[in-house]
Amino acid sequence: MLVYIKENYEEMSKEAARIVAELVRSKPSGVLGFATGGTPLELYKELIRMHQHEGLDFSNITTFNLDEYVGLPPEHPQSYHYFMWENLFKHINVDRRFVHFPKGMAQDIEAHCEWYEKQIEKAGGIDLQILGIGANGHIAFNEPGSSLGSRTRIKTLTGTTREANARFFDDPSQVPKYAITMGVGTIMDAKKLLLLASGESKAEAIAATCEGPITAKCPATIVQMHRHATVIVDQAAAAKLTMKY
Ligand code: GLP
Repeated sequence: MLVYIKENYEEMSKEAARIVAELVRSKPSGVLGFATGGTPLELYKELIRMHQHEGLDFSNITTFNLDEYVGLPPEHPQSYHYFMWENLFKHINVDRRFVHFPKGMAQDIEAHCEWYEKQIEKAGGIDLQILGIGANGHIAFNEPGSSLGSRTRIKTLTGTTREANARFFDDPSQVPKYAITMGVGTIMDAKKLLLLASGESKAEAIAATCEGPITAKCPATIVQMHRHATVIVDQAAAAKLTMKY
């Protein structure tokens, strides 16, 4: 596991953008896994800048998002589908046909989850998966206690995650209770992982992820088992790391 400690959020985001851009340039028909949340926002701005000013070409890139709230249609402003189009996809030249999300409105959720897994497989697997991390150590919506071998499925969100994500909703009671999420096993199948964290609220989860024992209590700790995992954090998120990196 490679751990980079950057001075601040901007530097963390620039380093992450360099890694994503390198993948896009070296494999123009590659498969990218995208994450939502506040953390990757500046990374996405930097990718937009690289597309607009450096010609970074996404036209043959296939994308898979990690997760989606159950019950929110794609046009809902708090859906992850909407988030990705607003904050990245509509500003770059991704081909709509190659963009994939779990469907929050799927009728048969189990069948849909199986379909999602198949699509990833058919695309040849994810080359680079971008990840954030929850303060409780969740990745995507794999909350503490998730099976470390899990595949795409429906998960109940914990109270702390719903509280943390309430900031994006007008009223905390509107935060959905369930989400469809890639499993920990699905994420671990990606050829490369890029996990980002910024701010002191993530310091404990990052210390556990990089230095703690591997445990389902903190699903992100499984990243230690990945062959090509890069963790980029800012100084605040690195505050509880004890080893030298
Ligand atoms: C959500 C998402 C995760 C994300 C996490 C942290 O729960 N499902 O993919 O990593 O929040 O979000 P933020 O980056 O806003 O702290």
